[in-house]
Amino acid sequence: MKIDNRQNSIINWYPGHMSKAKRQMQDELKLVDVIVELVDARIPYSSKNPDIDKLAGSKPRVLLLNKADLADEGRTKEYKLYYEKRGYHVLAVNAKSSAGIKSVLGVIKEACKEKRERDLKRGIVGRPLRAMIVGIPNVGKSTFINSFAGRSCALTGNKPGVTKGKQWIRLNKELELLDTPGILWPKFEDQQVGLRIAWIGSINDTILDPRELAVTLLSYFYGNYPGVIAAKYGVEECEDGHEALERIARKRACLKKGGEADLDRAAGFLMDDYRAGKIGRITLERVPAVKEAEAGDIEKEQKVIKDDDRENRTD
Ligand code: G4P
Repeated sequence: MKIDNRQNSIINWYPGHMSKAKRQMQDELKLVDVIVELVDARIPYSSKNPDIDKLAGSKPRVLLLNKADLADEGRTKEYKLYYEKRGYHVLAVNAKSSAGIKSVLGVIKEACKEKRERDLKRGIVGRPLRAMIVGIPNVGKSTFINSFAGRSCALTGNKPGVTKGKQWIRLNKELELLDTPGILWPKFEDQQVGLRIAWIGSINDTILDPRELAVTLLSYFYGNYPGVIAAKYGVEECEDGHEALERIARKRACLKKGGEADLDRAAGFLMDDYRAGKIGRITLERVPAVKEAEAGDIEKEQKVIKDDDRENRTD
């Protein structure tokens, strides 16, 4: 599978921003008790940034599989289990319609249970938990904050010891959110990840060739969701994504002068249809796609972080 080389310019452009954003996030993470990370439920692995695992230390982690309305329910369940096994408190949500959002507070409190018990033993009562929302661009962070905090929230203003200018949103007496979400970058160095992020529309379509995107997506559908293209466009499906795109173009009378199929136009509406959920609830990767070796690394890494943190803990 070939990705347009123009993507390399992104790969080279990000590092400066990444390290600055990482430093800033490192500082902000010191202020919070819990990290609420959003990923896109259609690509729960590819839209998750591994840096946060290193930055988070042993802080409780809540993982929200957002845009669950667009994802395959079965695979969402598989990913929920997958990440729960790795120590996350996981919830599938739809920030746009607010489905599942009511359960988030309970999950955050559950994730912070140990900390609350520790506080209680030290005589600290009534201190609200503080949470930071993080995620890669376009995953739904702002939509989530609006839906979660809703109208009932209030900005609390600056507090002593808190980075100047940082605002906290008081959700209720139990929880405050840092008002600006932390932005993470995806694992761009992995071309497959780049491709999946482009499929969901989180990389600008001028960076990757839209026709190539549509052709590869059609091949993926053929292998993983047979029948969806036939049902949506009334064409006979085939393994060759290019041929499938041509059939769709012809069926929709998407033709150039002279009768040649207009593949770019067909690619445009196919991608729009997929992203809007009009082809169905389709997830673009699955748990076994995460290499076992890597899964082992995550576990090892988490153990090292936890051990380090236990030694360093002063409270
Ligand atoms: P960000 O802060 O992480 O960058 O993401 P943001 O909230 O801006 O959301 C990005 C897009 O994703 C928005 O669409 C938003 O409506 C949509 N979105 C967020 N959560 C969900 C969800 O759970 N389900 C669905 N289907 N969509 C979601 P947009 O096209 O940029 O704007 P608009 O459609 O709201 O006008």
